Amino acid sequence: MYADRMLTKWVQDHKPRAAAMKDQPAFYRNLEQAMDLSRTDHSLFVAKPRWGDEVLDLTSSDFLSFSRSGRIREAFQEELARHENFRLSASGSRVQYGNYDYLLQIEQELADFHGAEAAYIAHSGYMANAGTVAAVPLPGDAIVYDEAVHASTHEGMKLSLASHQLSFRHNDADSLLEVLSSLKESHPAFVSGKSSILIAVESLYSMDGDLCPLDELVQVAKELFPLGNAQFIIDEAHSNGVLGPRGAGLVNMLGLEKEIAIRIHMCSKALGSTGGIVLCNKTIRDRLISNARFAIYSGAPSFPMVASMRAGYRLLENGEAEKGMEQIQNSVKHFLKTITAHPVWEEAVDEGILNIPLAEDYESIEHLTHIVPVLTRPKHELYLFFHLMINNINAYPISFPVVPKGKSRVRLVFHAHNGLDQAETLANVICEWAQEMLDIEAGKTENVMPSAARQVFAMKT
Ligand SMILES: Cc1ncc(COP(=O)(O)O)c(C=O)c1O
Repeated sequence: MYADRMLTKWVQDHKPRAAAMKDQPAFYRNLEQAMDLSRTDHSLFVAKPRWGDEVLDLTSSDFLSFSRSGRIREAFQEELARHENFRLSASGSRVQYGNYDYLLQIEQELADFHGAEAAYIAHSGYMANAGTVAAVPLPGDAIVYDEAVHASTHEGMKLSLASHQLSFRHNDADSLLEVLSSLKESHPAFVSGKSSILIAVESLYSMDGDLCPLDELVQVAKELFPLGNAQFIIDEAHSNGVLGPRGAGLVNMLGLEKEIAIRIHMCSKALGSTGGIVLCNKTIRDRLISNARFAIYSGAPSFPMVASMRAGYRLLENGEAEKGMEQIQNSVKHFLKTITAHPVWEEAVDEGILNIPLAEDYESIEHLTHIVPVLTRPKHELYLFFHLMINNINAYPISFPVVPKGKSRVRLVFHAHNGLDQAETLANVICEWAQEMLDIEAGKTENVMPSAARQVFAMKT
């Protein structure tokens, strides 16, 4: 059973190692010692064994099931067959030999699909995001970012020449207004338009599953900076394929194509493919080619990679996203309906055993997203993860520092392949765990830890 393999490996990976390395070179021992700190409190990131389709998947990024169904593979093979004499490698960076016709043609097709002037393909979404945030701002400029943005944006900020980097409260237009106003008041160059501000947000936040109030944020920026020197960069990793017309994303859904300077789309999630896309105008594209280190000092994306991206977009063009989006909506609704109607739900929420922020008013939410966080007390996310795993359900625990302290959770990611029966099983298994926790709290048992956690911690490997 998958749970045995997974949990055995988890236990092995968390055993401290440095003490047994006395005779090894200090170089490696020092590294093991550093990792031991996280091993001891069970917070080390470890590679997980791959699971089969028989495990309930509440984790993978195959949101639309393009990968597991083989649809992306078929579209990819068709794309390869259309270009049987392809040259596999780009054989150079964009500023050298690597700027081949197919790559340019697909970039224009992607730009057209999303209603953008231009597009630029990067090896991954991470690189597209980090590289663009690093390359675009000039000295004297500012980057203002939502406090919940992804690691790739932070990486870009570290490398950027921007003179100011300020965060605003998550999804809070008033907080954005305060931060932008403070920049305006303290630096005349932002008033005269001589310096610019890049505002970094995500369309759908990957930890909370909430949507960015983009309309509102854009209004704030436009009113404060009528000269157009405050512009947005939006990471559409989690909305690509699952939001908007034909899965084109949040900006297309809101009709804000003309208002958003830079959109980063990822093909590694819903499309079941790989690669990142920067949607922008020609000025930004030229700035990337002339200034982004990933464009200048790295070989351009290879033909197979670009063909796999094209294949994913063919599926979107053919309306394949809509079917999956509807299935996801149905499963998420059914899950929320089942869990909130469960006899243990209210008590578990009142006692702080678990909570799902969206659950209260889910019926009035127009677009339920495929990400549903189940908030727990610190450390309990691990207990819930073990409980789900032992019940053949894969949903990962997320702890500090990936989420702020006190915001531990198990993150549920719904897919087109999660039917209503799976949604129901999931809700019931979570509530079974909540009941166990309530019993422990009420002293109805001698145990201080729930059964799945006891089982895992007792494992000898
Ligand atoms: C919000 C966000 N941005 C960027 C990335 C990176 O995308 P990619 O997998 O294409 O590198 C991820 C992937 O985990 C993500 O969740």
